[in-house]
Amino acid sequence: MEQKDLLKDLIAHCKEYGFIFPSSEIYDGLAATYDYGQLGVELKNNLKTYWWKSMTQLNSNIVGIDSAIFMHPTTWKASGHVDAFNDPLIDNKDSKKRYRADVLLEEYQEKQHQKIQKEVDKAEKRFGDAFDKAQFLATNPNVLRVQEKIQEVQTRMKQALNDNALEDLRQLILDLEIVCPISGSKNWTEVRQFNLMFSTSLGSVAGEASTIYLRPETAQGIFVNFLNVQKSGRMKIPFGIAQIGKAFRNEIVARQFIFRMREFEQMEMQFFVKPGEELSWYEHWKSKRITWHLNLGLGESNYRFHDHIKLAHYANAACDIEFHFPMGFKELEGIHSRTDFDLKQHELHAGKKLQYFDPSTNESYVPYVIETSVGLDRLFLSVLTAAYQEETLEDGSERTVLKIPAALAPYKLAVLPLVKKDGLPEKAQAIIEMLRLDFTTQYDEKDSIGKRYRRQDAIGTPFAITVDHESLENNTVTIRNRDTMVQERMAIDALPNYLHTHCSWSALLSNLG
Ligand code: GAP
Repeated sequence: MEQKDLLKDLIAHCKEYGFIFPSSEIYDGLAATYDYGQLGVELKNNLKTYWWKSMTQLNSNIVGIDSAIFMHPTTWKASGHVDAFNDPLIDNKDSKKRYRADVLLEEYQEKQHQKIQKEVDKAEKRFGDAFDKAQFLATNPNVLRVQEKIQEVQTRMKQALNDNALEDLRQLILDLEIVCPISGSKNWTEVRQFNLMFSTSLGSVAGEASTIYLRPETAQGIFVNFLNVQKSGRMKIPFGIAQIGKAFRNEIVARQFIFRMREFEQMEMQFFVKPGEELSWYEHWKSKRITWHLNLGLGESNYRFHDHIKLAHYANAACDIEFHFPMGFKELEGIHSRTDFDLKQHELHAGKKLQYFDPSTNESYVPYVIETSVGLDRLFLSVLTAAYQEETLEDGSERTVLKIPAALAPYKLAVLPLVKKDGLPEKAQAIIEMLRLDFTTQYDEKDSIGKRYRRQDAIGTPFAITVDHESLENNTVTIRNRDTMVQERMAIDALPNYLHTHCSWSALLSNLG
């Protein structure tokens, strides 16, 4: 399926089956704001649980907190967000549309990467088994020319962003002849900086003193609680603090469904380490986090690392884990070595020490921090992107199936009486009673079994149990696997164990050790 169509199909599918609705839709919606529906909230909660358990339950030195969205306004002065949390924006004078200058340049580079991929695909077809991709990439003149172009754009962009040279950024857009996708024109305004924080007033008094911000990241709630947690939890370095919560950014270009929203959720973990040890911990967390993503089984080729060319004001190393979304490879998670920047800034602005006393050396120091930060909504979109499949079956019929990892599926199983009589519905309800405390289940008795299977496929239910007349005689049912569509007969007593093996938290988490 064309990747562009995939996003459209996903949006329609999410709405039709109750995963995601446009927010306040009866008033024609609010730009880039979405509500999670009855199935969406289940999947989202399961993603949170997967993250939370793997962070806190599988790491004895990581604990969680839930800090307030509103924070003392000085927090954001200290963190640098008031002065430096900006995006460079540029307007097209003809379409009056606003863009992020850096995103226009990244999209340009992505197009160049696609050109290289096309050359590779063509050559692969031509040479078949004899094709040596590495050699082709290193020697083909067309590929080399495009690679050189990408390199040049990256270097100029990095320089302009680092120097905050907005005119250079604009010049690069002009030199590359980048056009507005709406008007097709190159009639661009100057590039300006735009602060992304939402502000509001505290209490009834308006004015500078009462201005507070909606947090643009959850991380600062962790930093300001560093000593509270360390002391009350008697934590020893290295240790981590994890948090899941809403974040808000007044994004200039908020679109592409739930990929870029103004209100979204983050799952962040700050790992406090001894200064000097941060880069080896950075590598450690890169490896842990990619393993965590791959454990979902969405396909190794859907992920890649991308090193930041412009380091944020607080980082000495940073990369993204990118996912192959319908719009191409884009950031899913950020991993940052944030140095001691945040804690030192809070020490300075609050006038309080935020240091760790190491009893083994009798030394006090401000720890360095490795951060892992994944967007929950983007994670949701990554799962749906890989899970959504349209299949033509052997009999020529079609099905749309969500191959969501079994432990994350909104419903783990559907229980379907073959007919609505002869005591089969009662038997089906008794099975639900037996399983509902451990597994989310759905009962469905309407329409033919085939139609009921299709409905469960469309919402990603990994198993469907059919209760038939034989079930009354020998306490067995058929269990159908969503992905293989294979059905097997099984004793009802064996169901809890079977489901535990295939869709419990321990089944998903056991590979992470
Ligand atoms: N504390 C570090 C931090 O916030 P970030 O790279 O700006 O780093 C982390 O954000 C993650 O949050 C991103 O990788 C992305 O998944 C998610 N995210 C950021 N902005 C978002 C937005 N506007 N909509 C949805 N998710 C977003």
